[in-house]
Amino acid sequence: MITGKYPSLRLRRNRKYSWTRRLVRENELSSSDLILPIFLEEGKNKKIEISTMPGVFRYSVDMITKVIDKALKNKIPMIAFFPNIHLSKKNKFGTEALNENNLVCKALRIAKKKYKNEIGLMTDVALDPYTSHGHDGIIKKNYVLNDETIKILVDQSILQAQMGSDIIAPSDMMDGRIGLIRKALDKNNFKNVQLLSYAVKYASNFYGPFRDAVGSKTRLKGDKKNYQMDFSNSDEALREVALDIKEGADIVMVKPGMPYLDIISNIKNKFKIPIFAYQVSGEYSLIKSGIQKKIINDDAIIESLISFKRAGANAIITYFANEIAKKLD
Ligand code: PBG
Repeated sequence: MITGKYPSLRLRRNRKYSWTRRLVRENELSSSDLILPIFLEEGKNKKIEISTMPGVFRYSVDMITKVIDKALKNKIPMIAFFPNIHLSKKNKFGTEALNENNLVCKALRIAKKKYKNEIGLMTDVALDPYTSHGHDGIIKKNYVLNDETIKILVDQSILQAQMGSDIIAPSDMMDGRIGLIRKALDKNNFKNVQLLSYAVKYASNFYGPFRDAVGSKTRLKGDKKNYQMDFSNSDEALREVALDIKEGADIVMVKPGMPYLDIISNIKNKFKIPIFAYQVSGEYSLIKSGIQKKIINDDAIIESLISFKRAGANAIITYFANEIAKKLD
């Protein structure tokens, strides 16, 4: 591949000025690559900053159109809702997940009515914001029951589709849920609702601030290692993706992001399916605090996001979405 050598060959020639760097650039980041997560809060007229995620807020549903307007203006193609429900509504079975007046359902109705199909609406399928123990499913002796949990997730998916969700995103890591959710969606006439599988989700230490944001952190009993993946594994990620493709996933997600670029790249090389990456809350907070303390420059945000594109991701869920999209424009 390399023809010629130094001194006749000098790779720095292509980097000489901005115009030539732009011409030979291999990857670009645009606002079309970004997905904005929005945290929901009970009540009215609320905008509450999350203490572990400076610059990120939880909004009551009457306030979300302001945020979505901004996302639209920034040409962000999709938003994702995550709820922080009242403690009094949490229980062992996460039943609030199936309440058609829960925070996510209300937000979906408001957003779908106002924006129609101008912007994509994505919703998480999992029970952790709704359970008193903070796990993604129902538990028996600290073990999350697979098949019993899927039954609820199927109902949660149908409900979200009825309320206007465009992309159903199961983030629970139960085995077999993609196939069963697809089947149920089709049976209920939601053939065009997309399924974004969190196919590869690691039992990560980088989710801390998110769990704060949805109020599950202090409540979480034990850890999620009996369902989320062991971060020492990579072949297993390919098996997860292969299965979810077979079961009908339209897009697969890798989560967290930056510590797992190798996984994105492996999937990209092996499968021809769109890949989304999730730059999770812990990654956000680390970068943000580095910038606030002036330890790193804020171009670190773009650098981190381009790394996902280089690895092969099509889009990135990031709490920086609005802030960065503005700059990219
Ligand atoms: C759980 C869920 C989690 C995140 C999104 N969905 C956390 C977890 O598995 O405990 C984390 C996102 C983030 O950290 O930004 N269904």
